[in-house]
Amino acid sequence: MAVRYRKELDIISPYVPGKPIDDVKRELGLERVIKLASNENPFGFSSSVREAVMKALDEVNLYPDGNATLLKAKIAEKYGVTPDMVLPTCGSDEMVDLIAKTFIDQGSEVVMAEVTFPRYFSTSMMMGADLKIVPMKNMAYDLEGFKRVITPETRLVWLCNPNNPTGSFFSRSELVDIMEFISPETLVVYDEAYYEFATHPDYPKDSLDFLKKYQNMLVMKTLSKAYGIAGLRIGFTIGDATLLGLINRIRNPFNVTLITQAAAMAAIDDDEFLVKIIENNNKGKHYLYDEFEKMGLEYAKTEANHIAFNARKDAGVIFSDLLKKGVIIRPIGGEKYKTWLRVSIGTMEENQEFIKALKEVL
Ligand SMILES: Cc1ncc(COP(=O)(O)O)c(C=O)c1O
Repeated sequence: MAVRYRKELDIISPYVPGKPIDDVKRELGLERVIKLASNENPFGFSSSVREAVMKALDEVNLYPDGNATLLKAKIAEKYGVTPDMVLPTCGSDEMVDLIAKTFIDQGSEVVMAEVTFPRYFSTSMMMGADLKIVPMKNMAYDLEGFKRVITPETRLVWLCNPNNPTGSFFSRSELVDIMEFISPETLVVYDEAYYEFATHPDYPKDSLDFLKKYQNMLVMKTLSKAYGIAGLRIGFTIGDATLLGLINRIRNPFNVTLITQAAAMAAIDDDEFLVKIIENNNKGKHYLYDEFEKMGLEYAKTEANHIAFNARKDAGVIFSDLLKKGVIIRPIGGEKYKTWLRVSIGTMEENQEFIKALKEVL
């Protein structure tokens, strides 16, 4: 007799990450491959991270500080909150999982956008949520649409700003409006993985101030994108200490490694590194906008480090054809967007290589 498992798993597919460079080289016999598929940092990471990692290596016979005390203190100081309002995790991926396990019951109403970070879907479904999915409006979150499905019974709302994979954002006043609409008994998870890249004047750079008024909001951040340490797996969430205390009950005791804690402390201090990254992102974004326009391709304006565009041909075919040319990007997914793909903004050289390859495959 087959071993029994939770029926919720039947509708969940495994997460498909961007294809690794080495796999593509091996499978296709290519020497040079560029990966613009996972919104990683094309310039690596702050040099201070290397030093911190080398130093921490000497201590890996010890368990890490399970409370990440020094890291919490550093994050708290940087963002003007108290350390009990900070919870570091193994990437914000781990936090998405922990939030779902902590706050969603079988049948809980949960609301999310149609084209957004896919882990909101799988973790909510894993917990047996009654998931309401709000269609996009012009490739962006339709917050009026969210208001039509959110009720006082809603347990949790997932918001991603700027959004992955569309790069779209919603404004500070829209954020105020939706927070005012949502019951204080509903948890709002506000994921700002791409916060650092957003330059639009209406983007809510002061999102952490919202926490003073809305204790039902958790702000998720990551060092995987602008700070460039995706491989070390570190994200952190800022919000009400009582909510974080609930999540902390089920957190793995040593979820952030000793090396990662040291690296994160170094990365978060290097504001100069960040300036260069944002500059490059802006240049790359405008280069790609121009090129898409010249090619007559529709694209979505972005506040993140990736751009969604409509290749007007099957996204899966474009993906494989680009792969053969050594360029890894990815389809954005979703029934209605079968010809749309997402490209991460790379170095200028990578952006140019991508455009050259795209022209060839189209
Ligand atoms: C919107 C969003 N949230 C969370 C994550 C997970 O990031 P991390 O590397 O911190 O787990 C990603 C990664 O792509 C993302 O795009």
